[in-house]
Amino acid sequence: MSSATVRRPAASVFPRHLPWTDRAGRLSRLKLAVFLALLAPALLLLADALAGTLGARPWDAAVHRVGWWTTLFLIASLAVTPLRRALRWGELMSIRRMVGVTVFFGAVLHLVLYAGQQAWDLPKVASEIVLRFYLTIGFVALLGLGALAATSTDGMVRRLGGPRWQKLHKLVYPIALLALVHFFLQVKNDVTEPLLFSGLFAWLMLYRVWNWKIGAPGTATLSALALLSATLTAGLEIVIITLKYPVSVATMLEAQFDFAAGIRPVWWVLAAGLAVVVLAEVRRRQKARTA
Ligand code: HEM
Repeated sequence: MSSATVRRPAASVFPRHLPWTDRAGRLSRLKLAVFLALLAPALLLLADALAGTLGARPWDAAVHRVGWWTTLFLIASLAVTPLRRALRWGELMSIRRMVGVTVFFGAVLHLVLYAGQQAWDLPKVASEIVLRFYLTIGFVALLGLGALAATSTDGMVRRLGGPRWQKLHKLVYPIALLALVHFFLQVKNDVTEPLLFSGLFAWLMLYRVWNWKIGAPGTATLSALALLSATLTAGLEIVIITLKYPVSVATMLEAQFDFAAGIRPVWWVLAAGLAVVVLAEVRRRQKARTA
């Protein structure tokens, strides 16, 4: 066969750098689904802005919404490695960079919307960032995310070398911590959402510490990690509320079990941790059967 008649393999139908293709240029359903999921909040925000359904204070609503989604995606980016290991799902690694870069663009959009909320008065935006502690923290987190996004290309990984790149990208842990503190500090009364994100963050960090010090956690350890992160979530809520309001520890302990008043973050964190236990066990059995 002459070279002119050689067909290009199906693998290279798409350029390989598109967000929904794998390294060989093939369509990856996982990457496509994640790409659409990452894009959806921005599209919904745009639709609401165009339809005028963002409420009486549209800029405020947009700042809050984008901040919330950015933090969720930050937690999701931290979940990729533990879930890949626990669920023996190698393909998950292919989405980590996309999620991480989206976190950076989300944070930039959050800042741009904040400037819009301040009527584009940039000197005021700058002075607020310097003077208000929770904004300063957010800004530092944004700078950190910028450094990670700028070094996320294949070229930068090669230039920095694996170990240095990995060391640099460990910055994501303090950055996530800053983002959570920023979330807590801007809340007026209800700490439910930052607590929930913090509980999930606690699970992700406990998993990493265990994996680093002892090795891949098995079913019993994963169950213990779920219980420990849930307990830490409840503990953090009790500490915050009893310091902020004249409420006793006993009342706050009872409140954790008062399901009529809403499900407290401790239970969501426990449910998420136990879901990983179940899924990890299912995957372990599947793999054992196919082996
Ligand atoms: C220059 C950087 C930043 C500025 C100026 C900024 C500004 C703000 C402002 C003004 C609010 C609303 C506060 C209020 O209404 O009282 C807010 C909320 C929030 N920000 Fe930021 N922020 C920055 C960076 C970040 C980053 C890097 C993240 C996460 C990665 C983040 C996550 C959040 C979250 C989760 C909320 C609360 C959303 C909610 O209420 O559901 N922010 N931010």
